[in-house]
Amino acid sequence: MHKDLEKILYTEKEIEEIVSRVAERINKDYEGQHLVLVCVLKGSVMFFADLARKLTVDCRLDFIAASSYGKSTQSSGNVKITKDITADISGKHVLIVEDILDTGNTLSYIKEYLSGFSALSVKLCALFDKPDRRKKPITADYSGETIDDLFIVGYGLDYDEQYRNLPYVGVLKPEIYQ
Ligand code: PRP
Repeated sequence: MHKDLEKILYTEKEIEEIVSRVAERINKDYEGQHLVLVCVLKGSVMFFADLARKLTVDCRLDFIAASSYGKSTQSSGNVKITKDITADISGKHVLIVEDILDTGNTLSYIKEYLSGFSALSVKLCALFDKPDRRKKPITADYSGETIDDLFIVGYGLDYDEQYRNLPYVGVLKPEIYQ
């Protein structure tokens, strides 16, 4: 385990099982459809890559990036798109893939933004959900695990751009970010 972690919350194997469960539901719901999977950079990168490989529906992959946190541990609510998608999503089913749904500021903004291009549907898939922290009325159509308000890193999730490459998800020691 990384020295900056208090404990491991989800092992690689547990994450794999969660991703498989989510993929199974998506495969069932979108059977026979074509899907545009939108990865919200950077946190979602590991989940997106693993989920995409478990999907049996026809997919196009695209990427979007938004910033609202910076170095802070709190969402500022002031969301900006820093990298846009390149696919034409009009008339397509879109599934936004996120690592974590927290205050909902980022996802509300991205969902509303992507809903402005005449897509057939725009849905949201989040690996982790912290419903207690929600500030915007948004729910994930597909969510892997509901978690308590812990500062988690790894498997794409960062603190100050570190720990994204850890293959598991762990709880960061408070002295690292306080
Ligand atoms: C994180 C995460 C979500 C967002 C969730 O991204 O990946 O996009 O915060 O928080 P919210 O529900 O409170 O908006 P971050 O802005 O840290 O960028 P990153 O994906 O590059 O780490």
